[in-house]
Amino acid sequence: MKVLCIGSMNLDHVYMMDHIVAPGETEAVNEIKNFLGGKGMNQSVALAKAGANIYHAGMIGPDGLVFLDACKEHGVNGDYIRQIDEFTGHAIIQIDKNAQNCILLYGGANQKLTAEYVDEVLAGFETGDILLLQNEVNMLGYIVDKAYEKGMQIALNPSPFNEKLNEVDMTKISIFLLNEIEGGQITGLVDPKEIIASMKEKFPKAKIVLTLGKDGAMFAEGNTEFYQPIFPVKAVDTTAAGDTFTGYFLAGLSEGMAIPDVLKMSAKASSIAVTRPGAVPSIPLRKEVEEALK
Ligand code: RIB
Repeated sequence: MKVLCIGSMNLDHVYMMDHIVAPGETEAVNEIKNFLGGKGMNQSVALAKAGANIYHAGMIGPDGLVFLDACKEHGVNGDYIRQIDEFTGHAIIQIDKNAQNCILLYGGANQKLTAEYVDEVLAGFETGDILLLQNEVNMLGYIVDKAYEKGMQIALNPSPFNEKLNEVDMTKISIFLLNEIEGGQITGLVDPKEIIASMKEKFPKAKIVLTLGKDGAMFAEGNTEFYQPIFPVKAVDTTAAGDTFTGYFLAGLSEGMAIPDVLKMSAKASSIAVTRPGAVPSIPLRKEVEEALK
């Protein structure tokens, strides 16, 4: 089974701060670092490091060729990535002393996907293959419709949550991977159990994975539910923690692992990622995750 991620690639400019700057405030930066990121690429790398057969598609500018090297380095098939005459997407990320972040996103080339390009990419995939999407590229509604027509299983991480998701027919989604804030935005609810109940009612055939930060993660599908607590660690940078969880979860699922084992592996991978700076470089290899689980 192949996994295709049509997703973002961002150059992440990370500013380490005492605290995240507030409106009207000027704050000195303690350290600046540059990493490869983008929710799409982070999740593709997590899938690859977990051992999945992952293809990444999306657009970069001439300043983003480094993503092609990263694909080769990490085992992501990057043959569908197209270079266009636009700036590569970038993110300005502030990280405070408690490892919390806030992110400013410039879409750039990520927002230049066309129907023709999407058709060309999807032509390489078939019924049963998994398509993974986040909300950092354009054409989401079109991509979902076309992939659904082909009989692909569609996994959606509706992040960042905004009005662009209105174009997506959510009834075509097979797997939702979302955090409690996104779950709240979709359902209008706050309590995780109520979010899960409402998601099940709205999307009765879907698998739902709800991550709850320090409170762990919940899984639901029909009458089956599982809970996975976090593995507590000292976090230095939480960027890409959710992306790592998502990538590992889909990798485990595509291998046919039992859901409680998939959840445990994903939580462990994510707990390792937060102990390291950056997005792509923070994602652990499957071997490390399995060692840590012993
Ligand atoms: O989820 C983390 C990612 O969000 C960062 O790598 C940044 O690029 C933004 O897309």
